[in-house]
Amino acid sequence: MKELLMTLSRKEKIGQMLQIAPFFFVKDLKVEVAGPVEELHLDEEKIFLAGSVLGIGNPNEMIEVQQKYLEKSRHKIPMLFMADIIHGYKTIFPVPIAMASSFSPKLAQACARVSALEASTSGIHVTFSPMADLSRDPRWGRVVEGFGEDPLLIGDMSAAMVKGYIGEGYDKPGTIASCVKHFAAYGAAEAGRDYNTVDMSRLSLYSTYLPSYLRALEAGARLVMTSFNTVDGVPCTVNPFLLREVLRDRWGSNAVTISDYDSLKQILAHGVAENMKEVAYRGVTGGLDIEMQSAAYANHLETLIEEGRVEEHLLDEAVLRILELKKDLGLFEDPYRGASSELADQIVLSEAHLAASLEVAKESAVLLENDGILPFNKETKIALIGPYATERNIIGPWHWHGCWNCHEHLAEAFADQTIFVKSDPSVESYSHADVQKILAADIVVLALGEKEWESGEAHSKSNPTLSKEQKELFSWIRRIHPKVVTLLFNGRPLILDDIVTSNALLECWFLGSMSSQAIRSILLGETNPSGKLPMSFPRNVGQIPIYYNHLNTGRPYLGEHDHNEYVSKYLDVKNTPQYPFGYGKSYSQFVYENLQVSKKVFSPTDILQVTVDVTNHSDRDGQEIVQLYLYDKVGRISRPVQELKRYTKVWIHGQEKKTIAFQLSEKDFSYVMPDGSTVLDSGEFVLYVGGSSNHTIETTITLKGTRA
Ligand code: BGC
Repeated sequence: MKELLMTLSRKEKIGQMLQIAPFFFVKDLKVEVAGPVEELHLDEEKIFLAGSVLGIGNPNEMIEVQQKYLEKSRHKIPMLFMADIIHGYKTIFPVPIAMASSFSPKLAQACARVSALEASTSGIHVTFSPMADLSRDPRWGRVVEGFGEDPLLIGDMSAAMVKGYIGEGYDKPGTIASCVKHFAAYGAAEAGRDYNTVDMSRLSLYSTYLPSYLRALEAGARLVMTSFNTVDGVPCTVNPFLLREVLRDRWGSNAVTISDYDSLKQILAHGVAENMKEVAYRGVTGGLDIEMQSAAYANHLETLIEEGRVEEHLLDEAVLRILELKKDLGLFEDPYRGASSELADQIVLSEAHLAASLEVAKESAVLLENDGILPFNKETKIALIGPYATERNIIGPWHWHGCWNCHEHLAEAFADQTIFVKSDPSVESYSHADVQKILAADIVVLALGEKEWESGEAHSKSNPTLSKEQKELFSWIRRIHPKVVTLLFNGRPLILDDIVTSNALLECWFLGSMSSQAIRSILLGETNPSGKLPMSFPRNVGQIPIYYNHLNTGRPYLGEHDHNEYVSKYLDVKNTPQYPFGYGKSYSQFVYENLQVSKKVFSPTDILQVTVDVTNHSDRDGQEIVQLYLYDKVGRISRPVQELKRYTKVWIHGQEKKTIAFQLSEKDFSYVMPDGSTVLDSGEFVLYVGGSSNHTIETTITLKGTRA
């Protein structure tokens, strides 16, 4: 690609660093897109030098755009087509936070594979996924797009998605490249308000927030999208510490960096550049390769180079990375790579893809409460009440190409056994006749939640809870009927208050195209729920941020029997969350016993074998997510009270006992210091095993001798 680079004029090189929407290439610039053209200060020459496109609807559109571009282009370098394929193209899978609840990277990989197969039919080459941002704040609307609060789980899920997109390699059809986002620490926006400042220690960055982006890169992500926030007061889009020191120097990554939508220009509002020329300067020196939806590079880079303020080699390095990506994707052989209406007709939304979506959906719901009311059977007469009883839009935000109103709603899925359906949440709207019908039902199924648009980008909330109306509906139903099953549709952990007194409570998140079928299968017991929470559910807003892997304090609160006044606690709420990370019930009863470690005293070179017996004390076969956590009791710096190190998902038949084995090695006992180095300390570690971060059994082991 170096030879090709040499043939490009400076203007052409700069063009490669510009990404704009596809309509610029096919519409009349003077009439139909006059506004955007003027706003970006782009003329036709610059537009037709752009290196990539953001968002494309279908194969024909892609072919038309690429064709028009290539007709006018001197260098004939095809554009890259990028889009947000977040949890499916048209076959929509559970939203990422739901997918994370499956604790199954295998399923995430399968989902990404289907997404790539479908999306590539419209000529999409790159997806802006996965979102590897860790978040501890359910006020932040974008937790729906991520995998929760744990670095290991987020890393595993992100890496699996990347692998799924790539499949067996770009030389095979049905593959797309992945852009991991939003680099970095976007999920730590202060007070959970989207785009807000991030103020974070290097320790938290290195140990908690950065590792999952690295996992995605190691799995093969070819691009990195910068985030809207600042870190150390520097917008991430122009942050040389992140884009040069961490990404290039520490991680040795050659990934193409791309801004988020308009985020390069936004550094004006951040107040770190005076005008668009300075914006371009900070971008290119900061380490940003592609500018999405603004035109600082296109309009100012050339002058900056001519003035000697920017060295040409910065341009060359960025453009070379972009050209290499185009080459690896095979664009020089076939600029229309993948785009095919015929293939789309054959495979998009195929039965096999919908079946794959159903499989993930069944494993992504989390059973939070159940007093034995679930499962019920097909003869059970139900009253189906609440806003989600007849809501089709339960596939979740970011389903750009998906159809939000094409899928079955709950009342249809339960048509055979529903004797009353009403979606109006207002208690006043229920007549005497309605009440009689509700009372005639064996069970009330209440379908509550937040609308799909209540989470996602720029949809933060100061109080993530259900509406007053829905809470009143719940209280009323709770009073008049003894058996209430509540289903929750939402994109973030919610503060649930009394809803937790439901006889059963199923967290459905947004389960994608096959939501209703999956829920039916769970409520009827054809599927035994197995999901676990990837993020803690707080009891109230004041507890936020609340997360399982926190540090101890110097005055820890030791629980209900601790009557000390000067300990770390609240006067008005418990320290514990409503539901902790890793928590989720099953229709089976799993009991943990007999935790064994191959060596109680071990050295850094030992591979420790950990075994535990898990017995299903019920007659119902089920899957359990067995989790192993570690606590390093004494370190050079204070260490989290527990950290997830291993998990596995196992089928255990009714009344069966299975011995689950894990291996631990030096890496699992090591940790990161504030300067980013990794160390290992001898001493005691507590090993916890169970079906949640609120685990059941533990043992203490001792590391003798260190290497670091
Ligand atoms: C979002 C990104 C997304 C991009 C392109 C932005 O507003 O923050 O997550 O990939 O738009 O659509």
